[in-house]
Amino acid sequence: MKVAVLGAAGGIGQALALLLKTQLPAGSDLSLYDIAPVTPGVAVDLSHIPTAVNVEGFSGEDATPALQGADIVLISAGVARKPGMDRADLFNVNAGIVRNLIEQVATTAPEALIGIITNPVNTTVAIAAEVLKKAGVYNKDRLFGVSTLDVIRANTFVAALKGKQPTEIEVPVVGGHSGVTILPLLSQVEGVQFSDQEVADLTRRIQNAGTEVVEAKAGGGSATLSMGQAAARFGLSLVRALQGEANVVECAYVEGEGEYARFFSQPLLLGKSGIAERRPLGP
Ligand SMILES: NC(=O)c1ccc[n+]([C@@H]2O[C@H](COP(=O)([O-])OP(=O)(O)OC[C@H]3O[C@@H](n4cnc5c(N)ncnc54)[C@H](O)[C@@H]3O)[C@@H](O)[C@H]2O)c1
Repeated sequence: MKVAVLGAAGGIGQALALLLKTQLPAGSDLSLYDIAPVTPGVAVDLSHIPTAVNVEGFSGEDATPALQGADIVLISAGVARKPGMDRADLFNVNAGIVRNLIEQVATTAPEALIGIITNPVNTTVAIAAEVLKKAGVYNKDRLFGVSTLDVIRANTFVAALKGKQPTEIEVPVVGGHSGVTILPLLSQVEGVQFSDQEVADLTRRIQNAGTEVVEAKAGGGSATLSMGQAAARFGLSLVRALQGEANVVECAYVEGEGEYARFFSQPLLLGKSGIAERRPLGP
């Protein structure tokens, strides 16, 4: 199993790379790429952790060496939010970065499962789809916007409110990955009941949790550590599905049948070739 992280020298990229180095199955390859010259050094640093995961790091303009033979490509390259910005403000810079990197994925790893972390996810995923289409290699079962951070935030906030273990709670979060498009389905959480006021307050907090971090970091960026954990959870779910494990389900922002919108986050059964089944939203 080879996992490539593009944007690997950044705040998310480094946290994600650390978690993958310690949690990927033995014998896996972890390949790190970023334009920043420090990236081979990040790989050397990680290589001193005693796990049976081989790490390599590449920098410069060309992602090709990092992408060769990749089964999974996770992309967090791009600029992050500062206070006063919403995710759409990142569009001008990040759209071009994602377009450029996806062109390289299309050439070098056209069969890989791709997870896009770079914001605005609601748009960067659509850009990636068009670039892959133009290259003649688009498969809507293999391209994902990573919205897992909304799920883990929802799990944390619900557990805290209801006095539960966070690991016991699983909140499906559907829709998109920005403001009011983030829709936690609180009524589907097993074993807990909410008042209307709790639903309203929790929904607002889950939708604005990214801004909570941006403001607390006061100009130092957006969520990196919780996002690293979220991306590692999603990436490791892709690995388990590719290896044939049954019943791997994650919510992610993908192209569906257009029932709600062309791109929509919903529960997905993952399998050996990406999305095995788009699960209904339920009541
Ligand atoms: N999906 C989510 O839930 C979620 C959550 C938080 C942040 N994000 C997004 O993730 C992205 C990264 O955030 P971060 O905090 O890690 O930012 P960061 O600035 O710490 O890291 C970004 C990295 O991307 C690299 N980079 C820039 N252009 C590149 C290119 N063309 N090729 C390769 N690498 C390039 C930079 O050198 C840097 O190392 C941002 O767009 C942010 O908005 C998404």
